[in-house]
Amino acid sequence: MAVDLLLGLQWGDEGKGKIVDVLTKNYDIIARFQGGPNAGHTLEFDGIKHVLHTIPSGIFHKNALNIVGNGVVIDPVIFKKELDNLEQFKIDIKSKLVISRKAHLILPTHRLLDAASEAAKGKAKIGSTLKGIGPTYMDKTGRNGMRIGDLELDNWEKKYRALANKHEAMIAFYNVDIQYDLKELEDEFMKAVKALKQLTFIDSEEYLYQAQKAGKKILAEGAQGSLLDVDFGTYPFVTSSNTTAAGACTGLGVSPGQIGRVFGIFKAYATRVGSGPFPTELFDEDGATMGRVGNEFGATTGRPRRCGWIDLVALKYAVQINGVTDLMMMKADVLSGFKNIKICTAYTYKGETISHLPYNIESENVTPIYTEMKGWAKDLTKMSSEEELPENLMDYIKFLEAELEVPIKIVSVGPDRTQTIHR
Ligand code: IMP
Repeated sequence: MAVDLLLGLQWGDEGKGKIVDVLTKNYDIIARFQGGPNAGHTLEFDGIKHVLHTIPSGIFHKNALNIVGNGVVIDPVIFKKELDNLEQFKIDIKSKLVISRKAHLILPTHRLLDAASEAAKGKAKIGSTLKGIGPTYMDKTGRNGMRIGDLELDNWEKKYRALANKHEAMIAFYNVDIQYDLKELEDEFMKAVKALKQLTFIDSEEYLYQAQKAGKKILAEGAQGSLLDVDFGTYPFVTSSNTTAAGACTGLGVSPGQIGRVFGIFKAYATRVGSGPFPTELFDEDGATMGRVGNEFGATTGRPRRCGWIDLVALKYAVQINGVTDLMMMKADVLSGFKNIKICTAYTYKGETISHLPYNIESENVTPIYTEMKGWAKDLTKMSSEEELPENLMDYIKFLEAELEVPIKIVSVGPDRTQTIHR
């Protein structure tokens, strides 16, 4: 059985959590493959909103097993808070959630290093979520990291101490004013590690291999978005993992040939949180309306998200590098009420019109070229079938499908599980 893959095609916050939750009934296993608590996957059903950071979005379904894959970085403190929040829902966590031994640990000093690095960058800061993501992946590729499997060793605290001491020296090297009480942070960390050790650690690549052989259906859940990919995103304003399809292979240990469908999620417009180029960003009333109606605030940091029109140059690039087979368009309801909708179909770049994503997309290098379509006024949030959708929205959908050359299979018209139109 193939492994299907779900990932974001923009700068994150596309609505992956909601769609994983909607699709989980079709799968036996949901496996997160990269990122960490920088993610905020929001799910809404039965009038309750849930935000997950590290735990896969299939956790609310009775029959699905949730795997935190080797490509994920885990902060035990945040993980424990997530577990505590889930307690009230009487989920049998121990049988439904397992962690790869090869996933790396975020130490308290990784978080401090993140803060020190951003402070030292000043205006050039990345706008990181400050969850320690960059420093943890740096230790992973630098071959200094600590993994979940280390917690099973007798001497893990010795290893921890050596790494934390090294980090403290590095923090001092940054020479910025970072206030912290390491003892307090470490007490919290050690408590959280104890809670984490109650869960089952597995060799997840072997587990997934056997599960596939046994015919289990597996969905790999991505975090962040393709334009934040460390290789293909708007570097250096990116996260530190491969958020694109290839990341699922390295982040779970499944071979490229085992990937089946690739579900690409995008918003009907575009948003970005943190620094970095965003060619179609709006600084006017239209952008403010998208932010207000779409409730565009980061699920992890609460920061307001920057908003703009959809960018098909960037979206086509994401479809291409991920090999997307099915598209899912989120937050169509937020565009209700706009008289006209703009779609960026090309850029002017160094005096030429181009339709591929160039090396440099800062505003001084590219100017978006827009096509305009008529908007729609109707409230979509109570609609449940394609037949009810306004004609102008259908024209918008068809235009995007023609440009992207991939069918849009789901149109989301609100945050709730039920506000999902399948096509
Ligand atoms: P980091 O991964 O926390 O270091 O953040 C690097 C950049 O990616 C910053 O611009 C963040 O705002 C952005 N980012 C990280 N995770 C997410 C996410 O889950 N959604 C949206 N943006 C994110």
